[in-house]
Amino acid sequence: MALANSILFTSLLSTLVAAVPTPDVLRAREVNLTAVTFASVVPSSKINWVPCYGPKLQCTYLTVPLDYKNTSAGTTDVAFIRYLISEDIEDLLFNPGGPGESGIEHLVDSGEQFAKRWGYNPVSFDPRGVKWTAPNVACSYNKSSTLEKRQIHPLGDLKKDWNEILEKNHACSLENKNTNAKYVGTYAIVQDMMHFTELQAAARGKDPKTALINYYGVSYGTLVGQTLVAAYPDRIKRVLLDANVYGVAHYQGWEPSGNDDIAHFIFLFSKLCFEAGDDWCVLAAGANSTEEVHARFDRALEILRLTPLKLDGKPFDDNAFLQELSGSMYNPRRGFRTIANLTASVLIRNASGAKVSRRDIVEPKTSDTALDIITSVDIAGRYPWKTYAQWKEAADKLASTLPYGAYGYATGLGSIGAGMSIIPPPSQLFPGFKAIRPRASVLFVNTVADHVTPTASARQMSKLFAGSGVVIVNGPGHGYTTSPSRCSNAIISKYMKDGTVPEKETLCEPDAKADYYFGAKAEAWTLE
Ligand SMILES: *[C@@H]1O[C@H](CO)[C@@H](O)[C@H](O)[C@H]1NC(C)=O
Ligand SMILES: *[C@@H]1O[C@H](CO)[C@@H](O)[C@H](O)[C@H]1NC(C)=O
Ligand SMILES: *[C@@H]1O[C@H](CO)[C@@H](O)[C@H](O)[C@H]1NC(C)=O
Ligand SMILES: *[C@@H]1O[C@H](CO)[C@@H](O)[C@H](O)[C@H]1NC(C)=O
Ligand SMILES: *[C@@H]1O[C@H](CO)[C@@H](O)[C@H](O)[C@H]1NC(C)=O
Ligand SMILES: *[C@@H]1O[C@H](CO)[C@@H](O)[C@H](O)[C@H]1NC(C)=O
Repeated sequence: MALANSILFTSLLSTLVAAVPTPDVLRAREVNLTAVTFASVVPSSKINWVPCYGPKLQCTYLTVPLDYKNTSAGTTDVAFIRYLISEDIEDLLFNPGGPGESGIEHLVDSGEQFAKRWGYNPVSFDPRGVKWTAPNVACSYNKSSTLEKRQIHPLGDLKKDWNEILEKNHACSLENKNTNAKYVGTYAIVQDMMHFTELQAAARGKDPKTALINYYGVSYGTLVGQTLVAAYPDRIKRVLLDANVYGVAHYQGWEPSGNDDIAHFIFLFSKLCFEAGDDWCVLAAGANSTEEVHARFDRALEILRLTPLKLDGKPFDDNAFLQELSGSMYNPRRGFRTIANLTASVLIRNASGAKVSRRDIVEPKTSDTALDIITSVDIAGRYPWKTYAQWKEAADKLASTLPYGAYGYATGLGSIGAGMSIIPPPSQLFPGFKAIRPRASVLFVNTVADHVTPTASARQMSKLFAGSGVVIVNGPGHGYTTSPSRCSNAIISKYMKDGTVPEKETLCEPDAKADYYFGAKAEAWTLE
């Protein structure tokens, strides 16, 4: 998957050894799934749980104002789902990431495992603009242009790329001048979450105005959580944020720090490859050190930079190769072998072997358009670069410090907001983060080598919320479950139970050994 698609969630609710959800997550279930989906849930402005999808799952389609401060703007129906253990225990709201991933799908697929983890009733939802929740967002720009997000492309003429981006984004802004797309921003989403929490409290005979929220967010879901804490610091009880976005920069539209840990990821890949040996990692064959494996990886990129291969009739360069690998970096246990095999193919200039085969693609499911539009509404016209010269200078500056992927970022995720202008109403324009002390501690978790949401984001965002804890897992991957560690599991479970966080930042070693990442049979680690 392209780097441009990258703040995504990879099946963290599944057990550590489980496969990524099959595309049709419902298929294997024994219940009659055609019976109730959101297509047949009647929307209501009150919470009205009805059985849906499978055992213990319930759905409600909650009608909410598009703008809580302006009722003449109309309404939308937000799809919520819960896995009910018992009415007597608390809810835990969850967002899987994207933006653009369906919380409904995640809970249908993994609600049961999720419920076992910490003993809350898991609750999720499709945020505005995603799957079951309108407004449906759309841009009809030419999907087959070179900058179509899922398509890998070599580094070409940057000026041409910039012009295409602007043209595409102007067209999309214009198309959405009179649509409801402006109501899908993250600040609106957290207002829906609080609205839901208040209605749930009222339904349980509690005072809605003092209702507290429990929340767990992964990847883009951490931005939702950070925004939630900033908006309602007195209303939070547990907030667990895993694989962190640097929220401050997200709202400005240029967040190059997202790439900070790519080099560390490649270092750990090389180290673990060497340790696993050539039974597991083809790049370790005959190598005598981590450095040698690393040098092989770098040599493959250099080869592609100097003399691109031809793939599907198109040039395949280092930029395209990194984009091709990016999808395999989310979950090393499923991706490391692919990275090793592809790199080995490049070294022998075998073009057909340098492409991820369909069955090995591990990409989180999201909608590119939802990702683009939700992100653009968050940016709200604040994107910093107005001209090609400004943008090019920023990209060059990034390339001077970032060894991998700088121009891929600039032409992908880093240009979503360029020339975009979809402005939320005043009540949904996020005013920005400032240092506060929320009523409860927030727990930030990150691996030490996550190619899209780096450690630094967890650290920096934690400084804005006094009393926060930080746990860093010393392994690769997007989300703490990708590098299983009893140490981090114990801290997280304790936090979910009693709300306490470690006083100092804690570094946890993974229990997983090198061959685990390359697919060796895993011990039965559990998440509890
Ligand atoms: C499942 O439910 C639908 C809708 O109620 C019904 O039409 C269908 O016959 C049911 N299928 C089975 C196998 O029971
Ligand atoms: C409220 O929404 C309506 C419909 O979109 C719009 O015409 C009006 O300007 C809005 N009012 C305010 C105060 O934003
Ligand atoms: C989209 O772009 C492709 C490649 O540039 C072109 O061949 C095609 O005609 C375009 N389609 C439309 C509908 O503009
Ligand atoms: C690794 O070490 C062995 C034994 O010292 C040596 O024969 C071999 O050439 C080394 N391999 C490389 C790739 O340097
Ligand atoms: C990588 O290559 C090895 C050895 O050729 C093969 O057994 C394995 O299936 C490949 N794995 C992937 C994910 O490409
Ligand atoms: C090149 O890669 C393809 C696809 O993985 C593989 O089938 C083929 O055997 C490779 N060729 C060589 C010479 O290794």
